[in-house]
Amino acid sequence: MAGKNLDLSKLNVETRLALAGRDTERFEGAVNPAIHRATTLVIPDTDDLYDTPKKTYALEGMAVQNALKDALLAVEGGAACALAPSGLAACTLALLAVARAGGELIVSDSVYGPTRRFCNTVLHRLGVRTHYVDPRIGADIAGLINQDTCGVFLETPGSITFELQDVPAIAAAAKARGVPVIVDNTWSAGLYFKPFAHGVDMSVQALTKYQAGHADAFMGAVLSADAAMGARVQATYKQLGLGASPDDAYLVLRGMRSLSVRLERQAASALKVAAWLETRPEVAAVIHPALPSHPDHALWKRDFTGAAGVFGVRLHTTDAGRVKAVLESLKLFSMGFSWGGYESLIIPTNDNITRTATHWAESGSLLRLSIGLEHPDDLIADLDAGFAHLA
Ligand SMILES: Cc1ncc(COP(=O)(O)O)c(C=O)c1O
Repeated sequence: MAGKNLDLSKLNVETRLALAGRDTERFEGAVNPAIHRATTLVIPDTDDLYDTPKKTYALEGMAVQNALKDALLAVEGGAACALAPSGLAACTLALLAVARAGGELIVSDSVYGPTRRFCNTVLHRLGVRTHYVDPRIGADIAGLINQDTCGVFLETPGSITFELQDVPAIAAAAKARGVPVIVDNTWSAGLYFKPFAHGVDMSVQALTKYQAGHADAFMGAVLSADAAMGARVQATYKQLGLGASPDDAYLVLRGMRSLSVRLERQAASALKVAAWLETRPEVAAVIHPALPSHPDHALWKRDFTGAAGVFGVRLHTTDAGRVKAVLESLKLFSMGFSWGGYESLIIPTNDNITRTATHWAESGSLLRLSIGLEHPDDLIADLDAGFAHLA
């Protein structure tokens, strides 16, 4: 029977995505897991109420959440997975698993804004300092690690500005001092970058993006490299009272079945749109790690096996009115937050850049594009018509 007694690690990722988490015997013959909308679990034996390895409360996750965790681990590797109610909750869970009062986190200056906000508010209030560093710090991070350092948080490429980090060099320096490293690996969806192969301890996924893929479910995951880190995350998870909705877990797992196909198409379309943008006189730069013009392209080639469909473009113009006219004239791109869905999105991002360790000195108007499943020629025509407003 498909999926039974198979060592998925020996199979290609497309096959793993199709089979992981499948257990037709347990699911009464169905290919997909059952959705249990459950809180209380009935426990017939008083000996199983306390101090038991058995599941006693549905907040721990039922068949559908477990199937999703299996699928995530089958794609990215690792020893344990915890599901969070959003991508941001996964970032904060990973940080809370390592944070301690009086400790200091080292965080890349180009992390997702709300991750920075969490460090600067909740963690600050709890007595955890955050030291922001140049995303391109690489092995020099060794000089910043001291006895207070309790964790390193990276995101590669960074949000909005897409700097890549030298994860192997950073992880090696942190490991030498016993400091855990977390990577927000959402951009690669776990398919194109393998943090655990580079010495990372926790990989964070905002499953809301490519895994769910249809702009209809929030979820996040923290995957841990080994059982000890997994237990630390799981304990924090339980202490915080986190859980993941069974209906949303079902949607995310369903999205994962087609993840590799969607991402491949979206990535190819994004490269086509990016290459077209590079030829345009209105464009000062296209910021896409898979383009040779990207300053960290060599790192991308070394560490990644593919690219996502999200990238930046910097227009020469600083005229906000003209940019507004372009954006509001588009017929196929919509403006909206989030990314990774089947629908193409575009958003102005200059106001979204927060830097304290480095300075974003580039001029012009920065936009972020998330390329969906529309035909790239139609998307290019849409942008072409929109650019008329820059004339
Ligand atoms: C890199 C990154 N991490 C985490 C998140 C948070 O995900 P969610 O919107 O599910 O909270 C986002 C959302 O945009 C993101 O871009």
